[in-house]
Amino acid sequence: MIRIFFSLGLAITHNVVYSENIYKAYNNTNGLDWWQTGIIYQVYVRSFKDTNSDGIGDLNGVTQKVNYLKDLGIGAIWLSPIFESPQFDFGYDISNFKQIEKVFGTLADFDRLLNTYHNAGIKVLLDFVPNHSSHLHEWFLKSVKKIPPFTDYYVWEDPVYTKEGKQPPNNWLAVFNSGSAWEWNEERQQYYLHQFLVEQPDFNYRSPMLVEEMKNVLRFWLDRGVDGFRFDAVNFIFERADLVNEPESGDPESEPNDYYSLNHIYTLDQPETYEMVHQWREVIDSYKKSENDTSRMFMVECYSPVDKIMQYYGNDTALGAHFPFNFFFIEHFNRQSDAKQMRDVIASWLANIPEGRWPNWVLGNHDKNRVASRLDSMLIDGIQMAQMLLPGTTVTYNGDELGMEDTYIRWDEAVDPWGLNVGIRRYEKFTRDPQRSPFLWDNSLNAGFSDGPKPWLPVNPKFWRDNMQQQTKYKSHLRTYKQLVSLTKSPTILYGDLNVFILSKWVLGFSRSYLDHPTYFVVINLGSETERVNLLNARYTLPHILKVKVSSVNSGLVTGNLVRTENIILRPKAALVMTTSRTNEDDDNF
Ligand code: NOJ
Repeated sequence: MIRIFFSLGLAITHNVVYSENIYKAYNNTNGLDWWQTGIIYQVYVRSFKDTNSDGIGDLNGVTQKVNYLKDLGIGAIWLSPIFESPQFDFGYDISNFKQIEKVFGTLADFDRLLNTYHNAGIKVLLDFVPNHSSHLHEWFLKSVKKIPPFTDYYVWEDPVYTKEGKQPPNNWLAVFNSGSAWEWNEERQQYYLHQFLVEQPDFNYRSPMLVEEMKNVLRFWLDRGVDGFRFDAVNFIFERADLVNEPESGDPESEPNDYYSLNHIYTLDQPETYEMVHQWREVIDSYKKSENDTSRMFMVECYSPVDKIMQYYGNDTALGAHFPFNFFFIEHFNRQSDAKQMRDVIASWLANIPEGRWPNWVLGNHDKNRVASRLDSMLIDGIQMAQMLLPGTTVTYNGDELGMEDTYIRWDEAVDPWGLNVGIRRYEKFTRDPQRSPFLWDNSLNAGFSDGPKPWLPVNPKFWRDNMQQQTKYKSHLRTYKQLVSLTKSPTILYGDLNVFILSKWVLGFSRSYLDHPTYFVVINLGSETERVNLLNARYTLPHILKVKVSSVNSGLVTGNLVRTENIILRPKAALVMTTSRTNEDDDNF
């Protein structure tokens, strides 16, 4: 159906309505588990709350903020690495997997945190880093010396000799653009593999002792009471044993020796990886209290092609992760994207997911520029409406509920090794510092993050206006987020069907419906002009009036306003959640 509206001052809207059902109501007679019904909230501990004035966030800071997170309504926190580490990669270089890094606190602090969150009804997930350790880990120091059983805990190879002399065994490159993924060790007279920093040697998962050692790390924390893990960089754990060179990618943006100048077909997502993920699932499931109880869960980080990602779910005979992260809104959606592209992002995840497995949606993390900066600070409510009201688990990066933006970090302030490795000319493209700057609590010194002289990264200069406390006082991103959290608990959003509509080039709509529970309609204007849309084009049986349930800060509307179904006006980047039920009594009581 094609309708063209002409209206003074408004964009001409070509309402080519496309509508499809892309997700059927979830039909699981066992009901849903906690990781399916609650939001998983990533706490980047270094930047959350500092309680000892050293400018770095700590465990006691996380404990102190439990009421904020309880009030926010999230179901679980995932803590970025808190283990003993020299911090070359800010905690992803671990020198003791069973000890807490002193910058963050002690094991006693951790136990207190766990207790406090459990008492508040919030689950606690840890970051498990299986691919590598720190070069200062005792295992690596002993491996260098070939002390059994550590001799083959890491990937060691002999050099090849050419007329230029001693060379690494092949052309593999390190992620952080430092050149070869091989580092020569004088003492052992061999190269070791490091797919990340030189200070992060890769484990050898072909060593059964190492495999068992890492399972024991999982058991150590599970025995202590944690509810699960985010598994770091899982797609890196195996490499082709015959060490074949990787082909060039032809990526026009890469310089020679940049990681992305090669196509990583021999170092990522190798078949053995999936078997290891299955074995980890068995460890996690051995903590089940009964057949239908998940109690502990794990999610996998991998930036991979879709067919490889989906295999991390496992299959009926060999279960994998509860889910691999869905980074499609990070990787395949940007400021240029229109409604059709947004539909494709949604549909492609749901179409590829194995039968009966659970979706999830991620907008940001400590490795990616803030979603408010990648897209538009005004689109934050709209994009979070999509994330939180589509079927599946929401994973929120701390601060996104405030619409926090990237903080500009000068070269002389930069600390992320990826940015430092590429130098001043290119650091802005690679540095991960902007998205790691401290959480904005209030308008006091350092945004209430630290009362020390200097936070480890500068605080965003907009802190006086965009902080959490300020946002409790007026219609704000934080309030929108909280309204959305309560909606996520409704049966419609938990279990309902999904229909997607392309209402115009720039307006995407979707509806969720479930049995006789209220149906919700979401409309999001991705464009830069005000748009009028007619939802009757998408579903002609709708009543002529809809009620606003949640509105974006820039919409000009508030909860409870009534709108005409055939004439919904959306400012640029504005978004609405609407319902057919006209009274509050008709709404689900959740
Ligand atoms: C992925 C983590 O998210 C990132 O921060 C880290 O640098 C690498 N893995 C290496 O562990």
